This record gives sequence, structure tokens and C-alpha cells, in this order.
Amino acid sequence: MKITIIGTGYVGLVTGTCFAEGGHEVTCVDSDVNKVKVLQEGGMPIYEPGLAGLVQKNVAAGRLAFTSSTQEGVERSEVIFIAVPTPALPDGSVDLSYIESVSRDIAAGMTGYRIVVDKSTVPVKTGEKVAETIKRYGKPQLEFDVVSNPEFLREGFAVEDFMKPDRVVVGVSSQRPVAAMQEIYAPYQAPVIITDINSAELIKHAANSFLALKISYINAISVLCEASGGNVQEVARGMGMDSRIGGKFLEASLGFGGSCFPKDLSAFIHIAETLGYNFGLLKEVQRINSAQMDRFVKKISDTLWIVKGKSLGVLGLAFKQNTDDVRNSPAIELCQRLQAAGARLRVHDPQAMEKAGAILKEVTYVADMNEVAEGCDALIIATEWPEFKRLDLERVRRGLSHPIIFDGRNLFDPAEMERLGFLYKSIGR
Ligand code: UGA
Repeated sequence: MKITIIGTGYVGLVTGTCFAEGGHEVTCVDSDVNKVKVLQEGGMPIYEPGLAGLVQKNVAAGRLAFTSSTQEGVERSEVIFIAVPTPALPDGSVDLSYIESVSRDIAAGMTGYRIVVDKSTVPVKTGEKVAETIKRYGKPQLEFDVVSNPEFLREGFAVEDFMKPDRVVVGVSSQRPVAAMQEIYAPYQAPVIITDINSAELIKHAANSFLALKISYINAISVLCEASGGNVQEVARGMGMDSRIGGKFLEASLGFGGSCFPKDLSAFIHIAETLGYNFGLLKEVQRINSAQMDRFVKKISDTLWIVKGKSLGVLGLAFKQNTDDVRNSPAIELCQRLQAAGARLRVHDPQAMEKAGAILKEVTYVADMNEVAEGCDALIIATEWPEFKRLDLERVRRGLSHPIIFDGRNLFDPAEMERLGFLYKSIGR
């Protein structure tokens, strides 16, 4: 099938590449001429495990091409995916101006029937607006269908999530685009849920908000564990083995971040408000999340007494493992708060140091994770990169002027750390 993807950010590039890998003929469009040039020359604008190899393979096979011309993309394919950013506005609502302008460009470029699929995360009822816009700006006789097809990709696991999805959600307002959508997703062997457009749009925000709620729930339990002597990992294990609850997304942490959960929570609260519902439950999810960071910072300052003038090593800058993305990263927020309190920082991240460099100034970037604690008063773990579990703890202990570790991701066994001579403070244990 011929497919065009408009927008080559995380979602668009992964989607386009994985469609090509599934055998489709894909054109990826981006208005950023430099990004298109990088991709055409075989470069990668982002780090995402497994993606670079798939891009190269599918470009070489002639199934994947990049252009900065929307017109060209719209002419080339019958099915056009919109995967442009939908950033947050200061009041928590969603800026839909990119969606609107792409809808107009599609309308202007249409030469026959088109299926316009929205993959960007948008408020419920956006599909109706996209349809209205295409109708208003397109030639009167041209037919089209609007489809909602939200993405559920996790950064760092996006290729894996795309190739083996739990489900594919397709929201339609008529039967006409259904066969094409089923054909597009046939290579991925996942249940395809056909529903109405409003429900599909709601599924995305409802799913992300529920996952954020699960994290805040376990973070709230971590407070009770610390106050009572329980172990949050044991509680999560015992809860998660109930198949109605499930064990995933029950890892207590210094709070969730990234470009999705914080933004989607605010958006969903705002959407609910416009629909006349006060989503107090989700406001509490936000409150617990920021309180979790406050508690972690307090744990550090309570232990060190005075943070000013202390030298601290920080492992992890990305908002989670397997990515170089530092947008809304709890690790960066933590660094900034420690800097504001007067600490000097030595930091390391396996992938995110370049991107962190643009926002985190006056810190020492250390290339080797085992050297980050050198001469520091304490070491802090802020991101759950799997390689941090293989830290040379003996060397870290020798390097630290005091053997103190604050672990915001519960990577190590507290008893073992004590045996190794560390004062080890983690979350909810
Ligand atoms: C999230 C969803 O998981 C995807 O399904 C969705 O498609 C995506 O948002 C999106 O809307 O585009 P992502 O933001 O990439 O994906 O990252 P997650 O793996 O969900 O992690 C989000 C945050 O929660 C991270 O800061 C992570 O460290 C934290 N987290 C996650 C926890 O603190 N505890 C957990 O148990 C799980």
C-alpha cells in the first residue's frame, strides 16, 4: 500500500519506517528541510534502538523516501497519516495549529479520494475539526475520510511496540476506509479495534492518564512503605500478580516525566473541564508526581544537611532508559534543583549528554559512568538505564569521599549495598 506520513518526529519516523518494514511504500514528509536532508543522507535525527538500521534497510529497498514537499506526499499516496506535534499551551490545553495547517495543506494537494489518518495525540472531537477543515479548503467534489489511529509507542521501545502492538485502534465515521486500514496493519498481527472517531481519540488520553495514575499510585504506596518499614517492590509484586491489576508500570520512582504523560494529563484535565467534568482524580495524580520529586530532593538534603558547596555525581539525564530524550526529564529537574541549592554536579548519561548540554549548563559531563562519582560527596541515580546495574560499585565506593548513594530508580538491593559499605537510600524501601 502507498502511505504518506506527514511529520518525521519520534512518532512519524518510527511509524513510516515500520510501515515500510511491513512491505508498504512509504513517503515521509517534514517541513524541516535540514532534517529531511539528514535523513536522505542516511543520518538520524534521534536515538531510538533499532531504528537507524531499519531506515537504512528500507531506503535501500526503495520502500522509504523523504521529502519536504507535502504536495508531493499527498499526490503520491491514498492514505495520509498526520504525525505532527501537538504541544501544550500555558493553560494545559493543546495547540492544534500544526494539525490545522497540515489539514489545509492536504486539502490543497488532494487530487482524488484520500484517507486522512490522525496519529498525533489530540483532544476528542479533533477528527470532526479536521474533516471540516479539509472540506472547507479542498476542491468541492473530492471525497475523503478522516480516521483516528492513536499511537501507543514508548520511546526507547518504539520499534518493538510498533512491530508487536497489543492492539491497534482505528476510529472511523464510515465503513469506506476500514479495509485499507486493515490491510495497512495486516503485517503486524495485532487485534484491530474498529470504533468511532471520538472513542478512538478518548482511548489515547484515557490510556496514558491511567498509566500515569498507576505510577502515582505506587509512588503514594512508596510513601507508606517508607513510613512503615514496608518494601514497595514487594507490595507491587504482590499487587501485580493479580491479573486484574498487572505488574507493569508499578515501579516507584522519583516521578514520571517525558513529552507524553505530563502533557497528556494536563490536556485530559482540560478536555474534561471543557466537557463539564472536574477530573479531580487526575489532578491528584499530578500532585503526587511533583510531591515525589520534592520528597527525593528532601531525602538528599536531609542526609547531606547542607547541599551548598557539595559535589554530587548524577547517573542518568534522559527521562527514562533507552532514549536520548531529555524533554520534561525528572533527572534534569533534579539536577537543576540541586544546582539551585548550590551543589556542583558531575553527570553522565549513556545517550542523552548532547541533548542535555543545551539545557544543563555549568556541570561536568563525564564520559565513563564509573568515573562520575570521583571525588563526590554522594552519588545519585536518576534514570533506570540497565547498564547502571553493572556499575563497578567497588570503584564507585573508593571514588566517593563518603559512600552515599541516593537511588531514585531502585536499581540495587538495599541489603547488598549495606554489605558493600554504602549508606544507600532508595524509594519506598
Ligand atoms: C508513554 C506511553 O507508555 C506510550 O504508550 C505512549 O504511546 C507514549 O507515552 C505517547 O503518548 O507517545 P513514553 O512517554 O515513551 O510512553 O514513556 P513510558 O515508558 O511510558 O515512561 C513515562 C515515564 O514514566 C518515564 O519518566 C518513566 O521513567 C516513568 N515510569 C514508567 C515510572 O516512573 N514507573 C513505571 O513503572 C513506569
